[in-house]
Amino acid sequence: MAKSNFDVKELLSKMTLQEKIGQLIQLNAVFFGQTTAEITGPAERWKLATKEVYNMGSVLNFHGAEEMKRIQDDYMAKNRHGIPLVFMMDVIHGYKTIFPIPLALGASFDPELVKECTRMAAKEASAAGVQLTFTPMVDYARDARWGRVLETCGEDPMLNGIMGAAQVEAFQGDDISDHNNLATCVKHFAAYGGAEAGRDYNTVEISERLLREYYLPAYKACIDAGTKMVMPSFNSLNGVPSVANKWLMNDVLRKEWGFDGVVISDYNAVGELVKHGIAADMKEAAKLALEGGCDIEMMSISYYEHIPALIEEGIITEEQIDASVLKVLEFKKELGLFEDPYHGADEEKAAALCLSPEHREIVRRAAEQCAVLLKNNGVLPFSKDIKTIALIGPFADNNQIRGFWACDGKDEDCVTIADGIKALLPDVKVIVERGCSEKIDELDKSGFKAAVKAAKKADAVVLCLGEFQKYAGEGNSRIDIGLTGVQQELANEVLAVNDNASVVLFNGRPLALVELDEKAPAILDMFFPGTEGGNAVARLLFGDANPCGKVTMSFPKAVGQCPIYYNHPMTGRPKTKPENEHQGYASSYIGCGNLPLYPFGHGLSYSNFVYESLELDTDTLMADGEINVKITVKNDSNVAGKEVVQLYMRDLVASTVRPIQSLIGFEKIDLAAGETKTVTFKVTEPMLRFYDANCNFISEPGEFTISTGHADNLLLTKSFVLK
Ligand code: BGC
Repeated sequence: MAKSNFDVKELLSKMTLQEKIGQLIQLNAVFFGQTTAEITGPAERWKLATKEVYNMGSVLNFHGAEEMKRIQDDYMAKNRHGIPLVFMMDVIHGYKTIFPIPLALGASFDPELVKECTRMAAKEASAAGVQLTFTPMVDYARDARWGRVLETCGEDPMLNGIMGAAQVEAFQGDDISDHNNLATCVKHFAAYGGAEAGRDYNTVEISERLLREYYLPAYKACIDAGTKMVMPSFNSLNGVPSVANKWLMNDVLRKEWGFDGVVISDYNAVGELVKHGIAADMKEAAKLALEGGCDIEMMSISYYEHIPALIEEGIITEEQIDASVLKVLEFKKELGLFEDPYHGADEEKAAALCLSPEHREIVRRAAEQCAVLLKNNGVLPFSKDIKTIALIGPFADNNQIRGFWACDGKDEDCVTIADGIKALLPDVKVIVERGCSEKIDELDKSGFKAAVKAAKKADAVVLCLGEFQKYAGEGNSRIDIGLTGVQQELANEVLAVNDNASVVLFNGRPLALVELDEKAPAILDMFFPGTEGGNAVARLLFGDANPCGKVTMSFPKAVGQCPIYYNHPMTGRPKTKPENEHQGYASSYIGCGNLPLYPFGHGLSYSNFVYESLELDTDTLMADGEINVKITVKNDSNVAGKEVVQLYMRDLVASTVRPIQSLIGFEKIDLAAGETKTVTFKVTEPMLRFYDANCNFISEPGEFTISTGHADNLLLTKSFVLK
């Protein structure tokens, strides 16, 4: 794409102060394109006169190319300099054709799949008028109570970074002015996922060492991948909300990491500095956010109202404001908006792309590859030689399976399990009995009788359970993370009458499923799979697709174990008794084991993967050397499948307490029936570094172990010494 020669500095020199500040404000689409002189709604509340709206620099949340063009045309005609607006939106797991939620995408352990889905979303969204997406969200998360774990890739910092960077690369391509690309904004910087007790927006108090080791690497990976924008998090971090956190925003982000792009606040986060009680009023809020280096204020207007006075009083300088405005104008120029303010948006193009057969095929494949087979006693895959199948439970014919951040995706475009099975097996009789609701406070059991009756006479039963899609996502923390309502009771009654049964789960977070795990012969977790969910379920249940996803966030046995994560530090009193026994004066619970029900990395397949050997070519690693690790895996079955080979490391003695395992590599491989493959990894000294007590990023000589195998039972371990 040709880049504009437009001189943004010259433009800046012609702008009044108020016009400049306007470029630093982002408002919802409802503020724009008003035809009456008098603006109603929020604009009226903020006393924004019509002409002032035409100073504002960017828009969020609008609907499609037509609206975008209407707003842009109207705005550019009325803005004194004809400066284009930039249009932003949350394109998180698809624009219209929806792929699985990020927590599920993580489970694919497949960055190429993530890129394929992202490219698809970029094309749809860009044709529909979106120019920047507030993605990737790479908040490291350990507490399943937090509803926004749905948007993360879970509890491993390396995996989060790889998946986040893959999204940045795939959305932005080489050139954000290309009409098939979008700019990205990494969020929520930093440690939003550390919310105390998993309650959204709650305070975060963590040491710098913990922050640097677990929380920061994924944001850094996205910045290194070239993301154009950063969004500070809502939460206070060690006492200071991120948008006003000078250490975080200036020292770490800008000075240490060299980020020179645009920083945008989260929704009304500048205004919320007053609610946090660190600003007395909006004027002070504006001052604090500016000092924290926040360029654009989203959905509050403290900058617009108070910057002139702050300059007059000598608290901030106009040069500071100019620097932010220049960045915003440069960003618009880089998007090519001064040449094509629509950035190629085109209703017809969008209509042809959205929900096209090609895009549906991509998201169906993604849903298959993100699904995790949590348990299988051999009942799956079901035989296709059945006459009757009973689909029981609130998700049996429920199209609310797209997940919280589905952008323009609609429930009615989603394929239900019933639709999927009917399409795959047109000759099989499909009986649907919801039995009960998936809502927390809907406890009606009157549907149980019909459900049990259907289960009794069916050749196979699918229990379609989970949590209501609005229970996970922003603002939706849960106190109890079991199955909601009376679903477990329904499962108990149904499973008592038919053994040829499998559970299919829909969920935006790890759930506590001990009882279900005890009773169900098989559990297939789809998370929220998106538009093609039902077709993917059908193919997985009947063996046309082979599950290959792996859990990326531990499933606790009980909510009281949260936060629970595989890469936890050793304690001085580790438990030595069997998992289910309490051990006094050891790190242990009364009434529950320490281990999760399904750990990070767990996921079954219809193939049988056997880890045959783990070999290191040397047992000594020199600081500038490397160890070649060879892992041999055999598919000891007659079913082709994919396996995620995982490489873990442990530092046995170090000056700070180290995690019991850390993932340092993975590779997803295809194995034909009976095939054996050897995967190689290189281990080098930088992979062994950690933050010492003074936050120096170092490695220390000594003994390490390398392990691989099935996650819940790392079968093969070898040790080596770092000299
Ligand atoms: C969320 C962000 C999102 C923004 C704009 C906020 O409430 O925290 O993740 O990007 O809204 O929609």
